[in-house]
Amino acid sequence: MNRPIRRTLAALALLAAAVPATAQVTEVYHPPAEAVATAHPLATEAGLEVLAAGGNAFDAAVAVTAALGVVEPYGSGLGGGGFFLLHREGDKLDLLVDARETAPGAATGDMYLDRNGEPIARLSREGPLAAGIPGTAAALQHLSETFGERALADNLAPAIRLADEGFPVNAELSARITAMAHRFSPAAQAVFMPGGEVPASGETLVQKDLAGTLRAMAEDGAEAFYEGAVAEKLQRGVFSDGGIWSLGDLALYRVKERAPARIDYRGYRITTAPLPSAGGVTLEQIFKILEARDWPPSDDTAARHELIEAMRFAYRDRAVYLGDADFVDVPVARITSDDYIADIAGRIGTRATPSESMEVASMQEARAKGRQTTHFSILDRWGNRVSATLSINTWFGSGYMPPGTGVLLNNEMDDFATAPLVPNAYGLVHTEANSIAPHKRPLSSMSPTFVDGPRGVFITGTPGGSRIITMVLLSTLAHMNGLPAELAVTAPRFHHQFLPDVVQFESGALTEPQREKLRERGHKLEEVTRDFGNMQAIHWDLRRGFVDAASDPRGFGRAVVREVPVEAGAGAVGFVELGGASSDAARLASLL
Ligand code: DON
Repeated sequence: MNRPIRRTLAALALLAAAVPATAQVTEVYHPPAEAVATAHPLATEAGLEVLAAGGNAFDAAVAVTAALGVVEPYGSGLGGGGFFLLHREGDKLDLLVDARETAPGAATGDMYLDRNGEPIARLSREGPLAAGIPGTAAALQHLSETFGERALADNLAPAIRLADEGFPVNAELSARITAMAHRFSPAAQAVFMPGGEVPASGETLVQKDLAGTLRAMAEDGAEAFYEGAVAEKLQRGVFSDGGIWSLGDLALYRVKERAPARIDYRGYRITTAPLPSAGGVTLEQIFKILEARDWPPSDDTAARHELIEAMRFAYRDRAVYLGDADFVDVPVARITSDDYIADIAGRIGTRATPSESMEVASMQEARAKGRQTTHFSILDRWGNRVSATLSINTWFGSGYMPPGTGVLLNNEMDDFATAPLVPNAYGLVHTEANSIAPHKRPLSSMSPTFVDGPRGVFITGTPGGSRIITMVLLSTLAHMNGLPAELAVTAPRFHHQFLPDVVQFESGALTEPQREKLRERGHKLEEVTRDFGNMQAIHWDLRRGFVDAASDPRGFGRAVVREVPVEAGAGAVGFVELGGASSDAARLASLL
């Protein structure tokens, strides 16, 4: 460990010792601007509208979530779930609202296997059998009621308008409808291909049934979704078309409030999603491996290699150990302990570790024990924040819409291990910890994140399936190394997930000589030309007193920063310096 880092850690320890856990937090920081970054301009507008009407970040999150479900129907919606990471500045509360889908009560471990025990991938990806019980509707009510300032109905108003009056289809939506039309159920087809035609870019798409469902929620809250007439239509549709939902499954659904995962790394505090997202554990392992190795070494190729190896080892453990901790014992303390990390850090050599060589031992141990999707970030004038990643899993989820609801259902059941070591839609493998059980939540990669530290506050997250965690990692490192939000979301990306044993990279991420040097170390490389995320980030620099936001150029989103009048006694009032970024920030910035 080098000296500045040791100093930083010592400073952190002192700070922790000086502030008792129960201490009253008196300093409240107010930013000079509010910001909304989402994957669709109309959803950003919905958020800004609610903020302008006096709503806080949590109200805006409700408006954005509901609006995204209307204008980005391939990515998220009432038929899906997600994770909302919240920070309430008034009492410094950090909390994760877990609105992940649950397996229906009648789900079984072998529900996607044929008679010979072979998985039938189509069953966990298409049609109503692929759908978990959705969590988004419950989250909308919970956020409004518990954290918001306005009524749920007011926060849903922009989405109801967009569904009822329609909105202009963009090129992305038109193309995705074309690509996925073959999977649409008749009700979904009627909505997304009115008159049997894919709407062209610029045409208006109206969703009357969805407007009706949102209106029912505006009147009667989430109960209207989980227990009323809507619930009956959802259940009847699913059941009559081969699914296994019961009315009881819907009535039983609850969001869970969870303590977020916290990682301290070189003077920064990273707050992110705990299980059933893999994000927290996997990021903690990676950051700890980097710290144990005093990363980065002076040679750029070695630095990239070590980062890739850290990803590989952490994703191996994702596959072996991680699942819904409400159902299975996950040895989080052990696999993030100093000894365990030191062992992994010590096993990283100068050459790539073949994943197959790691697989055998660890998998046996595990057996013995048994741009679809979307992200948004919000900062309000009071310093409250939301980082939320929401999903119906793959494009247009299961493609199944129960008639009369306008609600397109997820295919999140595919995020379970449909069978041990059988790759899911993202090539991820799992073991017993992530097997299917009634009411269990499938393991996720969605990792809405806050980073607090010397550069102020960074709010980040992205869709992208298995690559979400490493994209959040790279953007966090980019932020720590001085990059502005725009470059943190733009920087080319690379990824390793243990299996398949390849480094996936965007074309701009590695030059040909850099690729060659990684190959010499034994890495297999694969260039990926699409779907490398759609990040939405906000940076609030407390020292300089400015707010900056960025929407990933890979998507069609929009980030807006709007100045707010500084209230008496508010405004940025300085920041406790916890430590510096690494000394060779400039070189690192070029590395990432
Ligand atoms: O929860 C998960 O990890 C996945 N269902 C997320 C899917 C996703 O990000 C798709 N995006 N490209």
